[in-house]
Amino acid sequence: MILVTGGAGFIGSNFVLDWLADHDEPVVNLDALTYAGNLNNLRPLEGDPRHIFVHGNIGDAALLSDLFTRHKPRAVVNFAAESHVDRSIHGPEDFIQTNILGTFRLLEAARAYWGGLENKSDFRFLHVSTDEVFGTLGADDPAFNEETSYRPNSPYSASKAASDHLVRAYFHTYGLPVVTTNCSNNYGPLHFPEKLIPLVIHNALKGRPLPIYGDGMQIRDWLYVKDHCSAIRRVLEAGRLGETYNIGGWNERANLHVVTTLCEVLDELQPRSDGKKYGEQIAFVADRPGHDRRYAIDARKIEAELGWRPAETFESGIRKTVRWYLDNADWVENVTSGSYRNWVEKQYA
Ligand SMILES: NC(=O)c1ccc[n+]([C@@H]2O[C@H](COP(=O)([O-])OP(=O)(O)OC[C@H]3O[C@@H](n4cnc5c(N)ncnc54)[C@H](O)[C@@H]3O)[C@@H](O)[C@H]2O)c1
Repeated sequence: MILVTGGAGFIGSNFVLDWLADHDEPVVNLDALTYAGNLNNLRPLEGDPRHIFVHGNIGDAALLSDLFTRHKPRAVVNFAAESHVDRSIHGPEDFIQTNILGTFRLLEAARAYWGGLENKSDFRFLHVSTDEVFGTLGADDPAFNEETSYRPNSPYSASKAASDHLVRAYFHTYGLPVVTTNCSNNYGPLHFPEKLIPLVIHNALKGRPLPIYGDGMQIRDWLYVKDHCSAIRRVLEAGRLGETYNIGGWNERANLHVVTTLCEVLDELQPRSDGKKYGEQIAFVADRPGHDRRYAIDARKIEAELGWRPAETFESGIRKTVRWYLDNADWVENVTSGSYRNWVEKQYA
């Protein structure tokens, strides 16, 4: 049994689906179902006894204690977080509550449970984090590696940095068997359409403007979500305790390049009915405050130590992603219309 938190969100739900496609080991999935949590993501698991969904908060100490006692997980994979930089700029409070205090409560509950285990060395606490904790890079700077200093610039990245430090401290102070992953920008199926790639696909198909912050030359290192999930599984299996692993796809791309690539793939797979190109919908908007210019991940450690490499290139992953959004218009419709919330309320009334 493993305990996954935030498993109704974008990466967490991909992780749970992939895990149960390959293992029979059950998953307890604890998710608060914020705006970003979507039980539709988990519909393929309806009625599957290997998936136990719990609607609750990682900040709820009593609930956590009960879950650990009842399910006796051999590992925790912590995805639960507030994850959207723009939202953290407008309202940082939830980021502090979940990403910092929530991670602290989860660590405390894990420590109490782990302290009572006979085979302490078999337990793992895997904390999922981001490359945004490292701050920003200049055009010629080397990519972030595991030795790069933390220099977070947004309330989101600062809250994730704080959680990473707490996880590290629980290893050094209490010996809790932890491992942390810092990953670059993910994209792929089940991505909430507030983030760049699903937003652009959604807006393009609706005939709406495709917003690009500033000059669109901010560089991100993109990773297909299924590759992130396979890396986390590998780290859970064989990562060294107390270590951090950077995960990336060696795919540095400027935002403008990402958007034009999406437009070209859409032009091919679902051309506009008026014969024009999707690229005509691109609209430059004012830049985000404190917008980091470049992120790049040096993923040599996870490759050398654990033999992990991404399976997708940027081009193959983008094509799969566009195909998925075209084939799953009902998922997007549910997410954007809010009707999935009614469905959630019915399920958990
Ligand atoms: N998306 C990326 O590109 C990316 C890259 C690197 C790391 N990460 C990290 O991976 C994790 C997952 O990211 P995501 O993009 O899937 O995020 P997401 O916003 O799609 O999902 C987060 C999930 O956590 C749940 N949640 C939020 N607060 C909670 C709480 N207090 N208790 C329990 N559940 C709660 C939400 O309901 C949601 O299901 C985050 O920790 C994020 O920092 C994301």
